[in-house]
Amino acid sequence: MTPDAPAPAPAAPDLPRLHSGKVRELYDAGEGRLVMVASDRVSAFDVIMAEPIPDKGRVLTAMTCFWCEEMADVVPGTLLAADPAAIAEALGGRALPADWAGRAVLVRRAEMLQLECIVRGYLAGQAWEEYDRAGTVHGTRMPAGLQLASKLEKPIFTPSTKATEGHDLNIDFAAAVDLVGREAAETARDICLELYRRAAARTAAAGFVLADTKFELGWVDGQLCLCDEVCTPDSSRLWPADGVVPGTTPAAFDKQPLRDWLAAQTWDRTPPPPPLPREVVEAMSARYIAAYERVAGRALADWYGATA
Ligand SMILES: Nc1ncnc2c1ncn2[C@@H]1O[C@H](COP(=O)(O)OP(=O)(O)O)[C@@H](O)[C@H]1O
Ligand SMILES: [Mg+2]
Repeated sequence: MTPDAPAPAPAAPDLPRLHSGKVRELYDAGEGRLVMVASDRVSAFDVIMAEPIPDKGRVLTAMTCFWCEEMADVVPGTLLAADPAAIAEALGGRALPADWAGRAVLVRRAEMLQLECIVRGYLAGQAWEEYDRAGTVHGTRMPAGLQLASKLEKPIFTPSTKATEGHDLNIDFAAAVDLVGREAAETARDICLELYRRAAARTAAAGFVLADTKFELGWVDGQLCLCDEVCTPDSSRLWPADGVVPGTTPAAFDKQPLRDWLAAQTWDRTPPPPPLPREVVEAMSARYIAAYERVAGRALADWYGATA
C-alpha cells in the first residue's frame, strides 16, 4: 500500500487483520474462515484516489455473490454468509461495524492457487502490447492481423504469477504447469474458460463486452473453489458493446469518467493524486451501480446496506 493511500477501514473488534489490499481488508474469523470487506477505494494508473466512490464496495460484493450463485454448478464457491446479521451470528454475536453491511462476506479460507487465472476473449491491455511487439500473447503465438480490441477466435486462458511484490508476470500454460502441476493447471483452465463463457454471454445480453477477466481459485478440502471477487468491474474489462471498434481503445464502462478527467489534468501519475471533483465521483458511483444492475438484473437498493 502506498503511504498516500487513505486509511483502511477500522479493524473489527478482536478480529485479527491478515491483509490490507488495494481494495479489500481480510480478517481471520477462526475455524478456517475469513471476513473479506470491500472498501470504496478506487485506483487509476496504480494510484489510489483520495476520494471513496459511494457504494463501490457494495457493488463489488453484490456482484461477486451474484456470479458465485450463477456459477455454482461449474465450481464450488467459498461464501458462507453475506447477510450482516448472519455474519454477526456466525462470529458468536459480535457487533460488526455498521458500514460493513453489504461490503463484508464470511468465506471459507482457501489455500490460494498460485496463479492469477486470466481469461481473454478480446485483445487489450498488456496482451495487446505484447502482441503488437512480438506477435504473441503470454508467450503463445497468435494469428497475424489482430488489432487492439479484436475479438479472439475463441477465449484463451492466459495465467500470470501472483507477485507478492511488484507486478504479476504473464506466463504461458507450460509455465503454469511448472508452477502448480499439470492436473491443477488443466483443471483451473477448464473451469475458468467455462466461467468466462457464461459470464460473457450474460454480460453480452446486458449490452456489454467482457473483454477479459481474472479469477482466483483456491483449495478447500482438496477441491478447487472460486475465491475472491468474480467478474466485477475491478477484476474485468467491461466495455459498452456499441463502443467496441477494433484498432481503437474502447471506453472502460466503469472508470472512463475518471480516466478522461485525469487525462485532462497535469498530473505525473504518482501519489498524491489530484482531488477529484464531485461530478467525477458521482459519475463513477453511478457507473458501478449500473454495471451491477444491468448485468445481474437486480436493484442495488435490495442489497444489504446500499445507500443509493
Ligand atoms: N477464500 C479465500 N481464502 C483465502 N484468501 C482469499 C480468499 N478470497 C480472497 N483471498 C485473498 O484475499 C485478498 C483480497 O484482497 P484484495 O484487496 O483483492 O488484495 P490485492 O490488492 O492483493 O488484490 C487477495 O490476496 C486474495 O487472494
Ligand atoms: Mg484483488
